[in-house]
Amino acid sequence: MTKRTSQLPGFYKVTVAERRTLVSEATGVETLAIARSLDGGGLDAETADKFVENVIGTYGLPYGVTLNVRVNGHDHVVPMVVEEPSVVAAASNAAKMVRAGGGFAVEIDEPIMISQVQLTHVKDAAAATRAILAAKDEILAMADRAVSGLVARGGGARGLEVRTLGVREDEMIVVHVLVDCRDAMGANLINTVAEAVADRLASLANAKVGLRILSNLCDKRCVRVRCRVPADVLATDAMDGRAVIDGIVNASRFAELDSYRAATHNKGIMNGIDAVVIATGNDWRAVEAGAHAYAARNGRYEPLSIWRRDGDFLVGTLELPLALGTVGGTLRVHPSARLSLAVMGVTEASDLAAVAAAVGLASNLAAVRALATDGIQRGHMALHARSVALAAGANGAEVERIAAIIVEARDITVEAARRALDVVRADRPSSGQLSAASD
Ligand code: MEV
Repeated sequence: MTKRTSQLPGFYKVTVAERRTLVSEATGVETLAIARSLDGGGLDAETADKFVENVIGTYGLPYGVTLNVRVNGHDHVVPMVVEEPSVVAAASNAAKMVRAGGGFAVEIDEPIMISQVQLTHVKDAAAATRAILAAKDEILAMADRAVSGLVARGGGARGLEVRTLGVREDEMIVVHVLVDCRDAMGANLINTVAEAVADRLASLANAKVGLRILSNLCDKRCVRVRCRVPADVLATDAMDGRAVIDGIVNASRFAELDSYRAATHNKGIMNGIDAVVIATGNDWRAVEAGAHAYAARNGRYEPLSIWRRDGDFLVGTLELPLALGTVGGTLRVHPSARLSLAVMGVTEASDLAAVAAAVGLASNLAAVRALATDGIQRGHMALHARSVALAAGANGAEVERIAAIIVEARDITVEAARRALDVVRADRPSSGQLSAASD
């Protein structure tokens, strides 16, 4: 059996085909399976036509892997689908730093989702609440009958909550049916439950049925990630590790005190999480909605992660709700999504959520470290230069060469890349900045 490792030195320097071989060796997934699941975006138009309506084609996005990720003592090569340069490299670099402190420690709640049933025209909210709570066992049994397949897999209804909402006490009631979704994201299951129990709830409450739908603020399904990074691995050429820790704590405090900054701080976290969510065929809009609602749970929009110093260590914590599935939905039909789980080496939704959240904290660390040291543009532009080189028509090994030239020349434009390409292709000695950069 393959001993899984997420450490693949020099990975970024080799060709796409060589990377597939390295991923295969590190994960035990056959290179042929990788090729079949990814070539052509892994999805043909005919299959896509079964997903959504009015299909006229499919849309490709880069599929990279984040390395060095270690979660609760296990290594994971983590697929990320994202269009933004530097996200994958930054997460890999930060995961390496975290690894030096033992990796990510992750705790995860049971996969409990909330099914909301709104009841309106309530005459007596207190009496309605009493009647519903007294019928709790009946309602939970009704919910279980509606999702018997889930119950057979060990999930099912777990609890009932009644809340009164509105300015007038009797304006409306909302009933939460709490359902353990096991390895499913749960949206369909939860909506089925809501529709199955709504009429009975309305009759118990002497009210009318309103909406019946899941809540994406799945705050009973949270993930908590922690990492402890030694100062020396955080150092840059210009700053020692302790100064970098101070800078990162300062960045964290800024986000804690200011919602404008918190939004961008959280965007840096979601760079990592969304890319994993998309690679695994999960619903990133649901994840985004839950994350941001959770960030505002105290009445003010706040950062989802916090960074502090502990002696010569930087300690980071991240907490957010994360509803991800490893069964059902897109996963059943999208070959690339299934491949991602195999490459990652996860079968359970809880493990997927743990890894996705860890990559979120890695992305956040990379961003705040860059902001607290060199600034974000240096590394970002170096990677951006590759897409500029591609846009200028560079192929294969030319891409890296042209990117290096335009970065060195500090002129990351398609025009500069075209000029550099002309020089490189003519194979004539370049002049000025270009020759210095291409040596
Ligand atoms: C860019 O995609 C993400 C950052 O703006 C995050 C941050 O500011 O923390 C760099």
